Amino acid sequence: MTDPGGSDLELTIGGRVLRFPAVWLRDNCPCPGCVAPGTTQKLKDITDMPNGVAITRTAHAAASVTVTFAPDQHRSEFSRSWLAAHAPYGDSDGDERTEDAKELWLAADLDPVTGRFPAASWPRYLDEPAERIRALEAVLRLGFVLLRGVPAEPGLVLEAAASFGFVRETNYGRLFDVRVDPQEPAPGNLAFTSRAIRPHTDNPYRDPVPTVQLLHCLRTAGQGGETGLVDGFAAAAALRASDPASFGAMAGTAAPFGYIDQETELRACRPLIELSPRGRVRGVRFNNRSMRPLRGSYAEITAFYAAYRRWAELLAEPGRQLNLRLEPGDCLVFDNTRVLHARTAFSMSAGSPGRHLQGCYADLDGLASTLAVLTREEKS
Ligand code: FE2
Repeated sequence: MTDPGGSDLELTIGGRVLRFPAVWLRDNCPCPGCVAPGTTQKLKDITDMPNGVAITRTAHAAASVTVTFAPDQHRSEFSRSWLAAHAPYGDSDGDERTEDAKELWLAADLDPVTGRFPAASWPRYLDEPAERIRALEAVLRLGFVLLRGVPAEPGLVLEAAASFGFVRETNYGRLFDVRVDPQEPAPGNLAFTSRAIRPHTDNPYRDPVPTVQLLHCLRTAGQGGETGLVDGFAAAAALRASDPASFGAMAGTAAPFGYIDQETELRACRPLIELSPRGRVRGVRFNNRSMRPLRGSYAEITAFYAAYRRWAELLAEPGRQLNLRLEPGDCLVFDNTRVLHARTAFSMSAGSPGRHLQGCYADLDGLASTLAVLTREEKS
């Protein structure tokens, strides 16, 4: 079927009438003159597109639609399945990092006994692509997964990171030890003490922050040292619903973070709640240990502090924090832009070697890429 076309393409897909702008179709032409064969890379820049692109003719076949464009009579053939998968409709960001692509939770939802606690066995994760897919999907959807049975040996945390991406080296090294070092009475970071640490995200003073963190338990504490996780996206949604002004102050104020030691001086100035261009929650940074003096007008600063306190209280609400006791061999993999982590204080009994975790950082884009390739291979 052929029709003279119009300036755009209208198609009924799945019972919905969808309108594809001519300029969008032309920019996405898959012909070998527009896309390098064997890749998805475009050969043309946006400025190569003629002015006044419009559709002069469309030819409909069972599986495809061929479109002819004015002013240069360029022809493009689009498969219907491609058009259905990429149809430009709706009000989604199309960004898998925002709250719209996540399943938000409270502690009870993911309770290890009664809830949908995301865990995977390390040997199965290594052997079975389906298990790896399930585990990596949990990190993207719920914000974390617990890998069980990762041998409690130093350095294995790097293998866990390498199983889905690249280790992000920082000023703390490729990996860092979370333990109390008796030789170091005044460590540069409170993580390396036995103190309780409230829910926070790591490295807010980096820009960009490491987006994935791994914590691998080598030894537990005699008493205490439990790990807590809080869904920062669920909390941000609750703040937006209950106190939009505070939500606006958290999203609209660039907060200064910093870290200094002998070899390092890091600074970043970013909002505590980061939004997508459509205003959807895309990231949280929360770490009072690293906050630096806020700049702004008197009114901005006082409004920020009122909202910051409200935000901190909401994050600390009972029911938000999922508590876990990591056992030797447990390796937690979590989204450091969404899930806050905490730990309770722990005891250092004389003569015992004490709690020892090893951590490292990686990134969500690499994790999502690994997941996409595994999923593609499983389907083929
Ligand atoms: Fe931390």
